[in-house]
Amino acid sequence: MGKFEVLDHPLIQHKLTIIRKKDCGTREFRQVVDEIATLMAYEVSRDMPLEDVEIETPMGKTVKKRLAGKKVVVVPILRAGLGMVEGILNLIPAAKVGHIGMYRDEETLQPHEYFVKMPGDLGDRDMFIVDPMLATGGSAIMAVDALKKRGAKSIKFVCLVAAPEGVKALREAHPDIDIFAASLDDHLNEDGYIVPGLGDAGDRLFGTK
Ligand code: PRP
Ligand code: URA
Repeated sequence: MGKFEVLDHPLIQHKLTIIRKKDCGTREFRQVVDEIATLMAYEVSRDMPLEDVEIETPMGKTVKKRLAGKKVVVVPILRAGLGMVEGILNLIPAAKVGHIGMYRDEETLQPHEYFVKMPGDLGDRDMFIVDPMLATGGSAIMAVDALKKRGAKSIKFVCLVAAPEGVKALREAHPDIDIFAASLDDHLNEDGYIVPGLGDAGDRLFGTK
């Protein structure tokens, strides 16, 4: 079974509180999401494998560590996942970026896929799917389906706010993946929004409402 971890570092909690406030404007929201994503990348990459490498310092030869792992692919679920990409690339600049376009039907809450563009050889890569919100879990489940269909084997899902309903659904559908959230919130309301949450992440990031 993959793990579910809440990354509740004080800096992450503090910054998440800033963006939850309804009077946090688009510019600050975007900036702080970016900062939280960088902090989360630090934690999410904690188990990256290392290998020995011989180097020469000004004092002589020594054997030290370097990353040995597969190449990382950051996969934002459009639109809102885009807000987390740069923050992760700050720490893992060599990562590739794949995109999955998905929107949730406001009536049925069912996700619809409209775009997928991935680098090749997903089986050899560590995939970090990013989306600020894990609500019913429908979008996340469909995104993992899309990556597995294309050969991905190592998948982590990284979100800011998760609802218990979404975590349960994603773990049931894909027990092998790791899930990281900055917060596990209380519940979903009747419209499928996370409470207390932060509202519509895409609209708040892009100023569309
Ligand atoms: C939001 C969010 C997730 C999805 C979560 O996207 O960014 O992708 O909803 O909901 P779920 O867990 O119930 O599937 P939305 O569909 O609003 O699209 P947007 O990012 O384009 O605004
Ligand atoms: N999508 C969002 O953007 N916010 C929610 O609370 C739920 C789904």
